[in-house]
Amino acid sequence: MAQHVRGVIARTKNAPVELTTVVVPDPGPGEAVVKVQACGVCHTDLHYRQGGINDEFPFLLGHEAAGIVEAVGENVTDVAPGDFVILNWRAVCGQCRACLRGRPWYCFNTHNATQKMTLEDGTALSPALGIGAFVEKTLVAAGQCTKVDPAASAAAAGLLGCGVMAGLGAAINTGGVGRGDSVAVIGCGGVGNAAVVGARLAGAARIVAVDIDDRKLETAKKLGATHTVNSASTDAVEAIRELTGGFGADVVIEAVGRPETYQQAFYARDLAGTVVLVGVPTPEMRLDLPLLDVFGRGGALKSSWYGDCLPSRDFPMLIDLYLQGRLDLDAFVTETIALDEVEQAFERMHAGDVLRSVVLL
Ligand SMILES: NC(=O)c1ccc[n+]([C@@H]2O[C@H](COP(=O)([O-])OP(=O)(O)OC[C@H]3O[C@@H](n4cnc5c(N)ncnc54)[C@H](O)[C@@H]3O)[C@@H](O)[C@H]2O)c1
Ligand SMILES: [Zn+2]
Ligand SMILES: [Zn+2]
Repeated sequence: MAQHVRGVIARTKNAPVELTTVVVPDPGPGEAVVKVQACGVCHTDLHYRQGGINDEFPFLLGHEAAGIVEAVGENVTDVAPGDFVILNWRAVCGQCRACLRGRPWYCFNTHNATQKMTLEDGTALSPALGIGAFVEKTLVAAGQCTKVDPAASAAAAGLLGCGVMAGLGAAINTGGVGRGDSVAVIGCGGVGNAAVVGARLAGAARIVAVDIDDRKLETAKKLGATHTVNSASTDAVEAIRELTGGFGADVVIEAVGRPETYQQAFYARDLAGTVVLVGVPTPEMRLDLPLLDVFGRGGALKSSWYGDCLPSRDFPMLIDLYLQGRLDLDAFVTETIALDEVEQAFERMHAGDVLRSVVLL
């Protein structure tokens, strides 16, 4: 029988979010209902609310979550009621050309629940990133649930569901940072600072954090940056080169999503180095680079979706590192809030006051 629970929706473009009743159907074949315990507030939720992603209002916001599986539908074998899971927005299909070639982290046909959660009047909700987790219970595809060690706190575990995984993976998976590498990270919000942590975890010898906000650079330093650069007052490219023997960094991670910071990343890397774009640009942005520089400097220009993660491989491993004290996920939880405080959390995020606000349910 469908359940009526409380959830946070964006009803129309740019209107403040609303706490309302959401109807959650019983899980059908391949689906699961998850009792959400924690869900981080991500920039993408605000983008949805502002109509920056698409016009399919009303949205059920929230997508950076962990919780307990309550019920599963037919043909679900990987998770069972009672499992502690992290939700992911890229449930791989196992059948597309990427999956069949053994590269499931690139899956071109990821999927979500087939049934819709609705408002009480029957209006279908569009769940943010196919999840929708600012809600007491949510319906997802079972493949969006990855079982991890229940000893982890839900607030910390949920972070791996989006931004923190994107940053960690940009360094470890996409950037391929290795022992002894020099790394620069441009933009040290939740994602960029996670890239700092990922670079440290992978054994980088030098990690240069770049931001225009000193508060973010302070955090970067605590999380493992060996040097910091405030690019509001200092030329980022010059500074990164100076800190890397005059050459530039082996891997430069752009975690802002703007042409000017991408250009900095491009010129702040060493010859044959790698640039990773993890920041998300908007449709009108353009880039103008001498093609000869693209050719002449060699190396790799990559973009990173969700840190090229494979949830079934990466989530349990990262949670184990967290439980061993080797990955400080708690450092990203600036504050915990209630379900009716999402709008205020958007304001604090916009002002740059937090790495992550996490809703506890
Ligand atoms: N690729 C993915 O899968 C993925 C996943 C989640 C988020 N993202 C994207 O990553 C980006 C960062 O997300 P976040 O949650 O860390 O956001 P955030 O707002 O917390 O952080 C952005 C940081 O960039 C800094 N900044 C802004 N302009 C700058 C400039 N000109 N030079 C240097 N620093 C500058 C800000 O001070 C801030 O610290 C966003 O574009 C977000 O959409 C990508
Ligand atoms: Zn696939
Ligand atoms: Zn997100």
